[in-house]
Amino acid sequence: MPAPEPGLVSSLLRDQLGRRLHDLRVSVTDRCNFRCSYCMPKSVFDRDYVFLPQSSLLSFEEIHRLVRVFLMLGTEKVRITGGEPLLRKHLERLIEMLASLGTPSGKPLDLTLTTNGALLRRKARNLREAGLSRLTVSLDAIDDRVFRKMNDVEFPVADVLDGLNAANEAGFTDIKVNMVVQRGVNEHQILPMIEYFRHSGHILRFIEFMDVGSSNGWTMTSVFSSSEILKLVESQYRIHQLAENYAGEVARRWAFDDGSLEFGLIASVSEPFCQSCTRARLSTDGRLYSCLFASEGWDLRSLLRGGTPDGDLAASIAAFWHQRLDRYSELRTEATSSLRKRQKIEMSYIGG
Ligand code: GTP
Ligand code: 5AD
Ligand code: SF4
Ligand code: SF4
Repeated sequence: MPAPEPGLVSSLLRDQLGRRLHDLRVSVTDRCNFRCSYCMPKSVFDRDYVFLPQSSLLSFEEIHRLVRVFLMLGTEKVRITGGEPLLRKHLERLIEMLASLGTPSGKPLDLTLTTNGALLRRKARNLREAGLSRLTVSLDAIDDRVFRKMNDVEFPVADVLDGLNAANEAGFTDIKVNMVVQRGVNEHQILPMIEYFRHSGHILRFIEFMDVGSSNGWTMTSVFSSSEILKLVESQYRIHQLAENYAGEVARRWAFDDGSLEFGLIASVSEPFCQSCTRARLSTDGRLYSCLFASEGWDLRSLLRGGTPDGDLAASIAAFWHQRLDRYSELRTEATSSLRKRQKIEMSYIGG
């Protein structure tokens, strides 16, 4: 079959529910220096756990080539994830390679990264200079004792906060802080996090705990919902809702009336946003996933290493996207979540 013209494909490309391929999330390592119990519990990710070997990882050249093809297909935003992406050696080189890519429409590529912040003091300046536009730092508690317990490697909160300062000093102006809220674990940290980040200029986002992967022991009762968070915040502060920045934004935006803080609520469990989900995910070893809860990926690495030309790669990705039907979060119930337990991919493999 001759490959369709990529430009032509991008103007038409929609999945079965009419959703565009707007974002690509690229995982650059399946390793992490934390062991958050909701993501990489020590009981599973222990000394015997087999991580991907170096030869399985996509090289920076391979990632660069794939991203270029995705841009031809209409992608406008790329998020680098992990595991912990800053563990990937010389990551700033990849950032530099990607930052130089433009979208066919002439819009600059929105290039961003999600990190746990542990290595930011060392890496922020290089990342900024390489052309990273934005940054998201995951932080689940501001109390050192709670934070150490959650990362489960005794990592001090002060070092993440210092990493955030380093990012500020390096010139990042668009920084988000993501907090996953788990009932009985850290909901008492919501208000202290707000107090800490008021006047910081960062956007704080509260994420509902999800049943990603098969090892985090998720139950519906452990979800502290966005509406509960909202109630809690409203009981203490005067706030108002903001309009969304772009169609399909995952967070509902809120701001303090006094201008001291913008925060977001990511209600992935209680109010799923599958209808507007424009995200594809590329794993460290080059498999493409059409949903965070997928069990099967599309092996792009074999195509890349088998000498497939760009036009055929584009056609193959377009065909993959075109047949997409995923809407897991809309269909989830406690029963389906546990039934699918053994099949789902892990968050540390595919990124958030
Ligand atoms: P901005 O571009 O800065 O608005 O960020 P984003 O929309 O890319 O959000 P981010 O990557 O920071 O996502 C925050 C969290 O939302 C993730 O860690 C996930 O927990 C959740 N999330 C993001 N995308 C999806 C998705 O497609 N499905 C589900 N179920 N959850 C998602
Ligand atoms: N539920 C919600 N968010 C999660 N993350 C990791 N695991 C989960 C989960 N089970 C988030 C992290 C980080 C991003 C990479 O994904 O906190 O912000
Ligand atoms: Fe690492 Fe992030 Fe997973 Fe925690 S949530 S174990 S920091 S990848
Ligand atoms: Fe997208 Fe799947 Fe998340 Fe729904 S559950 S928003 S389809 S990634």
